[in-house]
Amino acid sequence: MSTATEAHGKAIGVPHVRVEGRDKVTGAARYAGEVPFPDLAHGWLVLSTVARGRVRFIDTAPVLGMPGVLAVLHHGNALPVDISWVDPQLGPPDATLGVFQQDLVPYAGWPVALVVAETSEQAREAAEALKVDYDQEAHDVALSYDHPGVYPLVGPLRPATEEKGDLAAELAASDVVVDAEYATGQGHHNPMEPHAVTARWEGDRLEVLDSNQGSPFVANALAQTFSLEPTAVRVRTEHVGGAFGSKSQARTHHVAAAMAARILDRPVRVVLTRRQMFSLTGYRSATIQRIRLGANPEGKLRAVEHRSLCQTSTTYEYVEASTMMTRMMYDADAHHTANLAVRLDVPTPGFMRAPGEAPGSFALECAMDELAEKCGIDPIELRLRNEPERGPISGREYSARNVVACFREGARRFGWAERDPRPGVRREGRWLLGTGTAAATYPMHVMPSSASVTANADATFTVRIAASDLGTGARTALTLAAADALEVAPERVRVEIGDTAFGFAMVAAASAGTRSWVFAIRKAVAQLREQLSQGAAVPPEGVTVMANTFAEAGALHHDDKERHTYGAQFAEVAVDPATGEVRVRRMLGMFAVGQIINPLTARSQFIGGMTWGISMALHEEAALDEATGSLVGADFAGYHISAHADVPAIEADWVDDPDPGDPVGIKGIGEIGNVGAAAAIANAVWHATGVRQRQLPIRPDRVLLATPGA
Ligand code: MOS
Repeated sequence: MSTATEAHGKAIGVPHVRVEGRDKVTGAARYAGEVPFPDLAHGWLVLSTVARGRVRFIDTAPVLGMPGVLAVLHHGNALPVDISWVDPQLGPPDATLGVFQQDLVPYAGWPVALVVAETSEQAREAAEALKVDYDQEAHDVALSYDHPGVYPLVGPLRPATEEKGDLAAELAASDVVVDAEYATGQGHHNPMEPHAVTARWEGDRLEVLDSNQGSPFVANALAQTFSLEPTAVRVRTEHVGGAFGSKSQARTHHVAAAMAARILDRPVRVVLTRRQMFSLTGYRSATIQRIRLGANPEGKLRAVEHRSLCQTSTTYEYVEASTMMTRMMYDADAHHTANLAVRLDVPTPGFMRAPGEAPGSFALECAMDELAEKCGIDPIELRLRNEPERGPISGREYSARNVVACFREGARRFGWAERDPRPGVRREGRWLLGTGTAAATYPMHVMPSSASVTANADATFTVRIAASDLGTGARTALTLAAADALEVAPERVRVEIGDTAFGFAMVAAASAGTRSWVFAIRKAVAQLREQLSQGAAVPPEGVTVMANTFAEAGALHHDDKERHTYGAQFAEVAVDPATGEVRVRRMLGMFAVGQIINPLTARSQFIGGMTWGISMALHEEAALDEATGSLVGADFAGYHISAHADVPAIEADWVDDPDPGDPVGIKGIGEIGNVGAAAAIANAVWHATGVRQRQLPIRPDRVLLATPGA
């Protein structure tokens, strides 16, 4: 085949449709919950209806007599499992992984039983009929800034507090001060494909078909939990219909399915319902954030304080570290940040797209907009005046910091120069119009991975790596990156992913998947080309080389630079002061994110993140009922997300941003599209109405209550 890519040996940076796209749109691609299996049994989880207490009695007898029912697993008959282990990357597991090991109920939606039956419908009917009695205790699910028991997270990676300088003195000496409290709603990932797993034992070997972000991590958790040799568990994930952090680790359904398969000695599948996902797959805690900024009349910061509170469960500490962006974005003589948490009787929160930076950027970038207003300075100019030389707290040099380029090019394309800075003065019929902007940033990581490359006798190549493609297009990006390294057309490369038989690989998370995987693939390719250069013919079974970056990746990860990606978000909104409705009219995101592998899917990734920014700004907010301690409307009727009609034309593009620190220049694009998007919208709402909206989502009632004369 004579293609441009083959002629130049360059596949990176050339748009390419998804290599599995046809399989997906024709239905040939199978997802974890729909792979046929002989002798398959179906498990249905039963979750607690109380928020705190103990299971007193589970009335299994009537349910065991129902059609097709094979077993009811609960704390009285479960297999013992071990959750005292620690994963080197993810830390200790949540107690929720110790499925049915105790009668204690620490939150509403906690797994209390698994009903297994011949069909999924029979399992569901029996699960809904299962009667569970509880000894109920008083619960506490109300997050507030002055809640008793608020404590700072202590850990090496994301320390609770970082402080330099005399905050009180610098604030007192500042000519302009912003002192404001911001709040964000509790968010849920809601990937299109619910979590689904099938477990099957062959003697002491466990085989798992799954939908996850990292098969090696799920396999390790299951091996440890069931006290097996690491090599005794094989996990495969072929296609994943979205994840956003919710599928980054082993969870209740994995352990429940494996336990039931062990007891029944047949394959068992457990699929979560949309409603069950709200308590069993992590979520983003609501946050309450206090920001104080002090500046001189020219807008140069003297004082920065950012304190952010989130909730975690009584069973596990997960902290939404919302001040991380503040720690590296702007410098000041006094610079104090703190991530705080409080333990409530709620499900354990977890990684959700741009964890920390998504809610943190809302508070920080809205506060910067308020400072610009108070100083009478254009918001972009204010940020340019506060570009730091070095990491404010770390003192490290930046590997690159092209946020200025993003603002300049973004402002040009968005038409920022024509903007009238005055708020509340543009009308179009019943609509008030406004524009806003915000900065974005996300840290860069690279993690150890292994990959193999096979030169086949028919002049094609097969790459194998235990990566996951969450729908992002990772499989296609890896195909292009491998083709580039091999200097062949992408059509001659087949990439197989998601199988622990391929060795250890980085979880598809922290915007670090593609960078980590390509690093390993390039190393394997280099060694293969070295071997092939000896000139011997490729034998019928091919030539395979396996390589890993276990040594190099660790060294790159701990170098002495601040390594981040950047962006500038722009939004235009229309606000109807009579109804409180906010419509986003257009958005533009400019990003500095290193080398783009596949412009087609990269643009989708940014647009997806920005769309979530609209959703976070205007729609998403899980409502907790304090009386029952559970969520109200844990479904798509009660939990609103942006739908097609809410999303306008969104433009996403990138500036030149080379990274000499990576062999290909990859930095990572998974999450940054989400960062700053909600702040740009909130700032545009202020520009439209003249009223600051400091609580997300910006619901119509909040607009109406806040807008004078509405
Ligand atoms: Mo992503 S929230 O790092 O899985």
